[in-house]
Amino acid sequence: MAAPMGISGRGVRGEQGGAVLSMEGVDKFFVSGDGRAVRALDGVSLTVREGEFVCVVGPSGCGKSTLLRLCGGLDAPSAGRVRTGRGEGRVRTGRGEGRVPWAAFVFQDFGVFPWLTVRANAAFGLRMAGAGRREAERAAYGWLVRMGLADFADGYPDRLSGGMRQRLALARAFATGSPVLLMDEPLGSLDPQTRRLMQEQLLELWQEERKTVVLVTHSIDEALLLGDRVLVMSARPGRFTDEFEVPFARPRDPGTVQDSPEFGRLQARIWRQLRGQLTGSGAAA
Ligand SMILES: Nc1ncnc2c1ncn2[C@@H]1O[C@H](COP(=O)(O)OP(=O)(O)O)[C@@H](O)[C@H]1O
Ligand SMILES: [Mg+2]
Repeated sequence: MAAPMGISGRGVRGEQGGAVLSMEGVDKFFVSGDGRAVRALDGVSLTVREGEFVCVVGPSGCGKSTLLRLCGGLDAPSAGRVRTGRGEGRVRTGRGEGRVPWAAFVFQDFGVFPWLTVRANAAFGLRMAGAGRREAERAAYGWLVRMGLADFADGYPDRLSGGMRQRLALARAFATGSPVLLMDEPLGSLDPQTRRLMQEQLLELWQEERKTVVLVTHSIDEALLLGDRVLVMSARPGRFTDEFEVPFARPRDPGTVQDSPEFGRLQARIWRQLRGQLTGSGAAA
């Protein structure tokens, strides 16, 4: 049987060079509790091409989550320009075409609703996009199968381990059909072994689905394993200080990538830059 829903190819309008997301000179200020202005982002520019996997690393509090929120249109810049394809995703719903959110978010704390069944959680994004319950759940169930969660579909998330909940959050994001995934330390609360398995699973999924991804992570290894590019942010106010192209051919085999001398070299170079930002000594050469 054909899949009941799918994102159509014209979901994203690429500019020349296939940019689906761009920022130019973006500043973001917040007003803190005592009324002072907090500068979270300082002149950030970024271009993400269609199908690209971009990883962002940076010190805590430097503005990474703020950056992702701006990418997803959840918040507006104080200055500068953000261009996205917001609202341009389309999904077939059986009753015609519906809009899907341009970007789907995956957060560290899973964003799983305890009062909904696993199946309803997976279908949630599609339901929000206007799909009927049966068709949304049917499409979402396909993702539960792919994530190894089919046996838990009619139970509640409290029966799931941390890794399973994170797979559920990914199932929901992928099931929306959104062409862009914005992930904020999605594996950050998992134990190291589970995290490693999830990295491998995410790598495989991305290689099959080719979404455009912006992933914020604390792990340089994760960024190198998954990403096409790694961007290093400065301490707050956040701006990009360095950019590293990840040279490993796809499809990637995690073992081969991590055993390669280039992996170790890049890891060390990125850590030097990040360390400079963490200790406030600026980037070492
Ligand atoms: N809604 C908000 N109101 C006030 N300050 C905020 C708000 N959101 C973020 N900030 C501040 O902006 C800075 C960057 O935050 P954030 O983007 O969450 O950093 P990161 O994700 O890199 O840890 C921090 O100093 C944070 O306290
Ligand atoms: Mg954050």
